[in-house]
Amino acid sequence: AAVKKYLFDIQVKNVSRLCHAKPIVTVNGRFPGPTVYVREGDRVQVNVTNHAKYNMSIHWHGLKQFRNGWADGPAYITQCPIKTGHSYTYDFNVTGQRGTLWWHAHIFWLRATVYGAIVIMPKPGTPFPFPQPHREETIILGEWWNSDVEEIEKQGSKLGLPPNASDAHTINGKPGPLFPCSEKHTFAMEVEQGKTYLLRIINAALNDELFFAIAGHNMTVVEVDAVYTKHFTTQAVLIAPGQTTNVLVQATQSPNRYFMAARPFMDAPLTVDNKTAAAILQYKGITNTVIPILPKLPAPNDTAFALSYNAKLRSLNSPQFPANVPLKVDRHLFYTIGLGINPCPSCLNGTRLTASLNNITFVMPQIGLLQAHYFNTKGVFRLDFPDNPPSPFNYTGVPLTANLGTTLGTRLSKIVYNSTVQLVLQDTNLLTVESHPFHLHGYNFFVVGTGIGNFDPKKDPAKFNLVDPPERNTVGVPTGGWTAIRFKADNPGVWFMHCHLELHTSWGLKTAFVVENGVGPDQSILPPPKDLPPC
Ligand code: C2O
Repeated sequence: AAVKKYLFDIQVKNVSRLCHAKPIVTVNGRFPGPTVYVREGDRVQVNVTNHAKYNMSIHWHGLKQFRNGWADGPAYITQCPIKTGHSYTYDFNVTGQRGTLWWHAHIFWLRATVYGAIVIMPKPGTPFPFPQPHREETIILGEWWNSDVEEIEKQGSKLGLPPNASDAHTINGKPGPLFPCSEKHTFAMEVEQGKTYLLRIINAALNDELFFAIAGHNMTVVEVDAVYTKHFTTQAVLIAPGQTTNVLVQATQSPNRYFMAARPFMDAPLTVDNKTAAAILQYKGITNTVIPILPKLPAPNDTAFALSYNAKLRSLNSPQFPANVPLKVDRHLFYTIGLGINPCPSCLNGTRLTASLNNITFVMPQIGLLQAHYFNTKGVFRLDFPDNPPSPFNYTGVPLTANLGTTLGTRLSKIVYNSTVQLVLQDTNLLTVESHPFHLHGYNFFVVGTGIGNFDPKKDPAKFNLVDPPERNTVGVPTGGWTAIRFKADNPGVWFMHCHLELHTSWGLKTAFVVENGVGPDQSILPPPKDLPPC
């Protein structure tokens, strides 16, 4: 094992896209930011120095940070922000994980431009459980706004208005030739005929679940969220914000230039967003003048495709990489997801949109929750997040006015160390149904079941997959449906859980788990590092 050191200098840089130049926050002046390359078993030290006028924190999305929430990164959850002119070193071990993950700013909406890939190579002498690719490429999908993202966020949080949708989708920071002034902002990847390539696809978009496809080429899915899967071949990948998907692509077509493209999956659209990011897969020796061929992407409302795609995802569950699904459950949680409206005297209409779990809208604390827990600071949070929604709770949203108002609070749930938890996330029709990609920090979980409509505690568990369910850190709760996850609470700390649609996170669709220490010294939270940013 080695120590891998990185320097992240947070700086503002002028970048032009879609015919406009604007200052954006970057790492080392790069957009997307640098890829962190590590090997399973390495120790990683990333020194982050903040030279921007915004507060900053960086999250290592999907890394478990065992007993080491201090390196997790969400602002006001596990640390206070790194202020302008200050630095902090994220110091962590990468154990028991291999594959593609990513890092991003975890404060306000700064992850719009502050993000990059994490590539974890398997231990030496441990080959991939799939054919060795000739070469690999990172494909990070994102969104671009012409205006300042901080202003957009304020529209939602301060004024109570739904913020503008993004102006473009991007592939490796570039919108591609379907957007104005973007011919030169087009990502291209060269391939040789007959060779196999590994694409590490990451969805870093703020608010859009995306389809991704390559004209003329199928993809074989081999890994999601840094966990190997059973292989399956597909024309398009569906990927929610926060998720990663590794695919193999064989360059077996006639030498040409082919579009790769990404476009939203909008299950319950208020407006259809058809903006298509494009990049180019170019066979060696083909000149730039050949017209690329567009891929067929599923329609923005192709729910049938989404359901069948997700049903194909299975853990590899091999002797070397077993799926250790908890078979018995110690703690049953049932959380309803709702959008609502609360009074807001300072907002334009006197109201603002909110989002809630079990009708509770999370209020961000002023100091880090992990510090408050570790140092036993009183009055920062309450440990009374309910295991079930208020009863009776009409989560069908008929009439629409039922349960629209939510309760505010910094309320968390306490979990006994090493207990097994089952959490059912149930979408509701409060205001509107929508798909919600939920992310849990500090853990992977098994997605044991999912369905459309209301979860039936009598019938649905009998259909759970407890053999080879997908193991992930982010899962889509389908529009008007439910998803059941299981995990073993073996990582003590305070772990954030939230919808990875940034808009919904801002509206309060988040909470955290406090996982207690175990009895042994190796079962408790590590002491905080000396340079942890003060509050
Ligand atoms: Cu990728 Cu809490 O986030």
